[in-house]
Amino acid sequence: MKDENKKIRLALLGFGNAGQAFAALLASKRGEIKERYGKDVQVTAIATASKGNLLAASGASAAAGEAGEAGAGAAAGAKAIDLDAVLADLAQHGRFTDQALLCELDTMEIVKTADYDVLIEMTPLNILSGRPAIDHIEAAFARGKHVITANKGPIAWKFRDLQQQALRAGCGFFYETTVMDGTPVFNLCEKTLPLAQVSAVSGILNSTTNFILEELARGAAYDDIMERGRAMGFIEADPAMDIEGYDAAAKITALLNVLMDAGLTPDQVERKGIENITAADIKNAAERGKVIKLICRGWRDGEGRIRASVRPEEVDAGDMLASVNSTTSVVSITTDLMKTVSIVEHEPEIEQTAYGIFGDLLRVLSEC
Ligand SMILES: NC(=O)c1ccc[n+]([C@@H]2O[C@H](COP(=O)([O-])OP(=O)(O)OC[C@H]3O[C@@H](n4cnc5c(N)ncnc54)[C@H](OP(=O)(O)O)[C@@H]3O)[C@@H](O)[C@H]2O)c1
Repeated sequence: MKDENKKIRLALLGFGNAGQAFAALLASKRGEIKERYGKDVQVTAIATASKGNLLAASGASAAAGEAGEAGAGAAAGAKAIDLDAVLADLAQHGRFTDQALLCELDTMEIVKTADYDVLIEMTPLNILSGRPAIDHIEAAFARGKHVITANKGPIAWKFRDLQQQALRAGCGFFYETTVMDGTPVFNLCEKTLPLAQVSAVSGILNSTTNFILEELARGAAYDDIMERGRAMGFIEADPAMDIEGYDAAAKITALLNVLMDAGLTPDQVERKGIENITAADIKNAAERGKVIKLICRGWRDGEGRIRASVRPEEVDAGDMLASVNSTTSVVSITTDLMKTVSIVEHEPEIEQTAYGIFGDLLRVLSEC
């Protein structure tokens, strides 16, 4: 942000698991950010689907017009949303109740009219189209706002175009959280592997399927596995998107779009889930020293096209991939100059998701 602007205002779209964890982290680090970056981070708007939408007094000030928004964003004495109070309100009432902050604007009206510098997209993934998150992001760029997204839909469905929109608008666009929470994948390549060309990407990227395969291998019954996974919070009520490989397809697409400029969409991934894998298949593989894992791959074929697949594969029991279990995930990135670099994220919690978004915010503070 420009030096003379001492405040940076955030609009949060989505205030579920990720949004609340990010808010708690931000509230705890605001003082340190101010000290280190010289900026006071304020949240001026929060949008949800059913818990109400909040707009601080300053958040409403730009709604009157688009002219001079940066100046309006720095208005002296502007009110911001007290994150600790909002988190406590939500914990107590299950929705927002502060009448001084509640507003009638819907999500898109907030994106288009509220006063903020950075839009943080944390609404649920629409695995089939990436919308409405893509629409939110495009509307923010149209107003010259920086964007951070934890939602991988836009990166999987429209990365190249969104990146160009960000460049044209002179805006920052960050998305570290979309594939491996707070673990640096995109930052690692961009910041620490300069000029290295990525030629292939592979990994285990979906914890639900990982958990199910691991439990089947232990001899657990399918229904018991689902019940336990739901109780532990990482199997959805309808796990089809995970089990059939759609979520993994979106993740490998996002990786390839960013790291190899693939211009792919998730429906172009050769996809096969684990729905037909049985305990007998796993036992049979084990007898041959193999472990079945849902593996994501992306590579350049003989004609130079980037291809991607998600499918169950047998890996050697001694292979690093065989030991990646439960919510742990791994990405291996093959390059021309650094051969293959692998990154493992060990059993992340929601705090690691929050840190990914927080790290992107720090990049906005230091680079935009
Ligand atoms: N959870 C993780 O560990 C994790 C990790 C990496 C990436 N992500 C990504 O981060 C995003 C958020 O995940 P989450 O776990 O926080 O999901 P979540 O708990 O389901 O929360 C989603 C939030 O978005 C709100 N919402 C839904 N539609 C909206 C709309 N049109 N406008 C404004 N708000 C809307 C929901 O409102 P209500 O509260 O009213 O339902 C809720 O507050 C997803 O895209 C997810 O894939 C999550």
